[in-house]
Amino acid sequence: MSASVFRFRPPLLAHRGASASAPENTLAAFKKAQEQGARWLEFDVMLAACGEVVVFHDETLDRTTNGQGLLQVQPYSYLQTLDAGSWFDPRFAGERIPRLSEVLAFLQEERLSANIEIKALPGMEKETVTHVLSQLEQYKTIPTPLISSFSIPVLKELRQQSALLQLGFLMDDLAMDWEKTYRELHCTSLNLNQNLLNPTLIQQLKAISSLLLAYTVNDPARAADLFSWGVDAIFTDCPAKILATVV
Ligand code: G3P
Ligand code: MG
Repeated sequence: MSASVFRFRPPLLAHRGASASAPENTLAAFKKAQEQGARWLEFDVMLAACGEVVVFHDETLDRTTNGQGLLQVQPYSYLQTLDAGSWFDPRFAGERIPRLSEVLAFLQEERLSANIEIKALPGMEKETVTHVLSQLEQYKTIPTPLISSFSIPVLKELRQQSALLQLGFLMDDLAMDWEKTYRELHCTSLNLNQNLLNPTLIQQLKAISSLLLAYTVNDPARAADLFSWGVDAIFTDCPAKILATVV
């Protein structure tokens, strides 16, 4: 499948869901993104101690739940008891850390597409990838996901386990040898920090990657510039604001 098979219409991915309007990486944020008109969701996944894949961003529980310490040393039986909503607003009290399987079921039901970003502790890449792909096997009818990571070992493991996956090469900064790795892994998209981007660089990047995605863009004027310079889609916390003013 070529990159052109992915349609970003509208050209945005709800970053951790509509995370300006609901607690990030929760089902409430994903439902809100859909309500706001997004057709693509971006969310982060990691492995809990019991082997369950959960949707969560930080290494530690402290910022977005009422728990503390490292997520990955906890089993899901404990994680599911945590409140992942009150920190954002008391209206979201009782919102839980979702399992990947719950979010895949939501995607399947609503026919939404997803960029699944894998975050793995060093040394846990293979195990994390294996569990994520085994979950995806059970939801074969969801729209083809874009699977991304900042971690080269994770991307290598993904490619080793499947030649068919659509991989997103995530970078916060342009590493020296990124182009070689991008090509070796047959990646589909380049997912870059929007702060790096300008018209000249975008032109150079698009000669290598026909699909260029930029995170995180919440300013409609900046979004309009990026689109006019050739960025294919943006990750945003506020789909409604971008859709109202730009797309
Ligand atoms: O995938 C784009 C973006 O989510 C990468 O950064 O830290 O928000 O996961 P982060
Ligand atoms: Mg992410």
